Amino acid sequence: MKDLNQYTITPAVMDSFKTEPGSRLEQLLQGLITHLHDFTREQNVTHEEWMATLNFLYDCGQISTPERHEFILLSDVLGWSALVDMINTKGGATEGSNLGPFYLDDAPIKALGGDLSDDRSGVTVLMHGRVMDTLKNPLPGAQVDTWQADGAGTYPIQEQGQDKYDLRGKFTCDEHARYYYTTVLPKPYTVPYDGPVGQLLRAGNRHAWRAPHMHFIVTAPGMSGSTTEVFFKNTDYIDNDAVFGVRNSLIAEIKPAKDLDKLGYTLDKTPDAVIEFDFVLAPGD
Ligand code: BEZ
Ligand code: FE
Repeated sequence: MKDLNQYTITPAVMDSFKTEPGSRLEQLLQGLITHLHDFTREQNVTHEEWMATLNFLYDCGQISTPERHEFILLSDVLGWSALVDMINTKGGATEGSNLGPFYLDDAPIKALGGDLSDDRSGVTVLMHGRVMDTLKNPLPGAQVDTWQADGAGTYPIQEQGQDKYDLRGKFTCDEHARYYYTTVLPKPYTVPYDGPVGQLLRAGNRHAWRAPHMHFIVTAPGMSGSTTEVFFKNTDYIDNDAVFGVRNSLIAEIKPAKDLDKLGYTLDKTPDAVIEFDFVLAPGD
């Protein structure tokens, strides 16, 4: 019988797992147990604090549905999602950022130059740029899948009576690897704060606002896809996005629309402003 105390319990728990020596599972479990036990000893966690934490996780489970994943939201507001994105961005590629809960993998295929906004009110912008590899070689035929909130900060999928496929589309880049379309400039919106994660935000005197952004998944054959977001200079919450999605390299400038004919695009709608953003993909696996 081992003499268990607050120090020997840590190796005892590790030894109880009969994982394959040297496996990733063994490595992750050992790290998790070490950090969890060290944290508990360092903080002298009380029964009340331990139970409150478990009840908080229970509440996250209770409010979760297939459409609302409170644990992902928890990961987002703790900066864990952002950290995983950061450490998994490949060298030289566009930095990764939040997928968020509103992605649909069957967004409509749209023609280059088309308009995503379906005449929603707001500032009409031309969104354009190129998709390249890390050596700046263009990747013609790359796919740009995008989705976003409207000019009032709402995703159509959140609103009853709206078409969930509005404000989203998949574009195939032309022979110069360019993508271009018009849309409405999105406004800030809040992450859901009517559940346990909202209570956590309030307890920490934090707001629930996201900086305005557009979501993208950019893919090309043989390349690693990029799940990311584009933000806009000088917009609200750019310095304190609730889910830590903003990176300097993902902030684009909103410029007045002028000399558009020089771009040589055929557009369905005339934009008020222009945003240019190039995506860079690393070689894939
Ligand atoms: C979003 O960007 O759509 C989002 C991200 C995290 C939580 C909620 C929404
Ligand atoms: Fe979003």
